Amino acid sequence: MKFFLPCLLVSFGLHLATISADGNPLLYLGFSSTNLSMDGTATITPSGLLELTNGIVNRKGHAFYPDPLSFRKSHNGKVQSFSVSFVFGIRSSYLSMTQHGLAFVVAPSKNFSDALANQYLGLTNTVKNGNPKNHFFAVELDTALSIEFKDINANHVGININDLNSIESSSAGYYDDKSDSFQNLSLNSGDAMQVWVDYGGEAKQINVTIAPLEKEKPVRPLISKTHDLSMVLQEPAYIGFSSSTGAVNSRHYVLGWSFSMNRSAPKIDTTKLPKLPPKGQKPQSKLLDIILPIGTATSIIVMGAIIILLLRRRLRYAELKEDWETEFGPHRFSYKDLYHATEGFQNKNILGAGGFGKVYKGILPSSKLNVAVKRVSHESRQGMKEFIAEVVSIGRIRHRNLVQLLGYCRRKGELLLVYDYMSNGSLDNYLYCEENNPTLNWAQRFWVIKGIASGLLYLHEKWEKVVIHRDIKASNVLLDSEMNGRLGDFGLARLYDHGTDLQTTHVVGTMGYLAPELVSTGKASPLTDVFAFGTFLLEVTCGKRPVSNDTDYNQEVLVDWVLEHWRKGSLIETVDTRLRGYYNVDEACLVLKLGLLCSHPFTNVRPNMHKVMQYLDCDLPLPELTHAEMSFSMLTLMQGEGFDPYTLSSSIGTGSGISGGR
Ligand SMILES: Nc1ncnc2c1ncn2[C@@H]1O[C@H](COP(=O)(O)OP(=O)(O)OP(=O)(O)O)[C@@H](O)[C@H]1O
Ligand SMILES: *[C@@H]1O[C@H](CO)[C@@H](O)[C@H](O)[C@H]1NC(C)=O
Ligand SMILES: *[C@@H]1O[C@H](CO)[C@@H](O)[C@H](O)[C@H]1NC(C)=O
Ligand SMILES: *[C@@H]1O[C@H](CO)[C@@H](O)[C@H](O)[C@H]1NC(C)=O
Ligand SMILES: *[C@@H]1O[C@H](CO)[C@@H](O)[C@H](O)[C@H]1NC(C)=O
Ligand SMILES: *[C@@H]1O[C@H](CO)[C@@H](O)[C@H](O)[C@H]1NC(C)=O
Repeated sequence: MKFFLPCLLVSFGLHLATISADGNPLLYLGFSSTNLSMDGTATITPSGLLELTNGIVNRKGHAFYPDPLSFRKSHNGKVQSFSVSFVFGIRSSYLSMTQHGLAFVVAPSKNFSDALANQYLGLTNTVKNGNPKNHFFAVELDTALSIEFKDINANHVGININDLNSIESSSAGYYDDKSDSFQNLSLNSGDAMQVWVDYGGEAKQINVTIAPLEKEKPVRPLISKTHDLSMVLQEPAYIGFSSSTGAVNSRHYVLGWSFSMNRSAPKIDTTKLPKLPPKGQKPQSKLLDIILPIGTATSIIVMGAIIILLLRRRLRYAELKEDWETEFGPHRFSYKDLYHATEGFQNKNILGAGGFGKVYKGILPSSKLNVAVKRVSHESRQGMKEFIAEVVSIGRIRHRNLVQLLGYCRRKGELLLVYDYMSNGSLDNYLYCEENNPTLNWAQRFWVIKGIASGLLYLHEKWEKVVIHRDIKASNVLLDSEMNGRLGDFGLARLYDHGTDLQTTHVVGTMGYLAPELVSTGKASPLTDVFAFGTFLLEVTCGKRPVSNDTDYNQEVLVDWVLEHWRKGSLIETVDTRLRGYYNVDEACLVLKLGLLCSHPFTNVRPNMHKVMQYLDCDLPLPELTHAEMSFSMLTLMQGEGFDPYTLSSSIGTGSGISGGR
């Protein structure tokens, strides 16, 4: 496939010379015999489709035009007009569920090896996102709602400059030429769609238009945004596509592509494009190709339709159940119940989405109980029995500061976990809300802190087994109707331990909460939880994220920042300004110092949760921190340990979530 055969060129693709600043255009109708630079999951299928991702979760793929392009006439000139058009299709084995999307990108390099394969679309990572040094311009076709990037919905088109947080975005659709009315498009409908991106060098205007394949280019663009790309793009630059899957096994295809400098991109003749695989089938399967011709006889079609209808009814509620599960019977929910509880997993019932999958609100049909259903995609069967045994065992844990796990349901490729519904959502929404939204006052924050400490103490020391939470952070702290803090998500990290897929890029644990020894040895322990809890204490008191980028886009680590103030004797200045000075100074100081102690790089300095609880209740005075003890910098430690979330996956999470009985 990689060889450049002139004869194939005529039949499959039309590639007109190299693109130049004078406007020699590029036109690919299918990608057979083309010479793109690809990495990750990207590949050219035998039928000539560019397949960016192949249905494996947490993967990324890139395909670039191999040669660099000049976007400027002269070295210091401004970026001239350019125009792009491409046809794409998004597929998934689940009905209308895909993650995360794909993007057309112009970037100074083809090397995206340090980008994350999740909501970052394979373009950046936690640290680099938003950095002006990225010098990329991208148009995203995003089918997941990332609250982190203030996404408007799970079906939108956006313009991204150096940042996954779009400068402009719009729900996917187009303006009809005749009526000028807005027509919705579903990016992951499985149908091919065409996108046009036009940049006007004089007006510094970026237009993005999208339409179904059978439509001509609509006159009115979906998005029109003035932004000077001369400030963004570097010389030379590469053009191409980037895509990533998240927890759902999506496939992202490009069928055709054209590009031109200083004039309209060549029109793509959509009749000459390769076809997307038949819908609802694994792309390898030829089953439909055989069944369909036979089914031409009307009688057979009618019979087939009836059979398909019956099958679909059965498939809709199909579950996986094995013998060993009978012993867990009472904790097993039927898929049908969960399907009805969440009104068919409708988007309007989505409470949020995290690293493991989407969370839906539901009302159980029988008991009318409010629940949160977490949908986790999981390919491997290995270790499933142990995991379910653990889920059930964890389901027996009851504590007022832990989110109650009610049970589970298992289907092919996915696991559904059912939790008590927490009506006030997650804590991070209150800490990092917009300026005018209500935040939590100090008394509420201190109450939540004590609650979470008590919940964690229970997991570590009071229950029949030692349970390590592994992912303590503000977004995993939920607030019940009485504003009690409750720790959620415990035990879930184990799911990824059992995965057979060693190359998975899911980081168990979250950047900024990972203790240094966890990064280097990969072994979780109660003290790695204490570390994350320390970071959480600082987060709640300072109202700042554990790792953030300051105004100059340097990485800023919260622990270091608080530590610096402590050294200067100005600890109290770190308290969240949104409290407007209304807080108990003694309590805030106690929490800040305790946070520093818990997040100490040396495990022997960290207190256990039993001690933490005593400090918080003022039953035990906090030991004075000495300057010798506190002379570290988390940032240097993190960098020294090769702290790169992308390489962590294989080393983290080999420890045990539940270690032996006591
Ligand atoms: N039991 C629940 N009740 C109410 N809302 C919930 C519940 N569980 C989760 N949510 C909502 O769903 C969102 C996503 O939850 P989830 O735990 O999947 O993601 P996360 O904690 O942000 O990330 P991660 O999966 O990496 O832990 C939460 O931020 C919260 O708003
Ligand atoms: C494909 O591109 C690479 C890099 O530009 C080049 O080294 C290689 O010779 C090209 N191959 C063909 C078949 O054109
Ligand atoms: C891509 O960049 C990384 C560092 O970010 C480097 O280690 C790697 O070798 C580069 N790969 C290529 C193919 O240049
Ligand atoms: C288009 O989508 C929006 C948002 O999802 C929805 O509010 C609206 O009703 C839809 N319109 C049509 C015509 O389907
Ligand atoms: C972008 O769209 C606007 C509004 O339709 C149009 O006036 C302008 O010429 C377009 N610019 C480009 C570069 O296509
Ligand atoms: C772009 O093309 C127009 C004519 O189509 C020409 O007048 C202009 O000089 C070109 N601009 C650049 C920067 O090449």
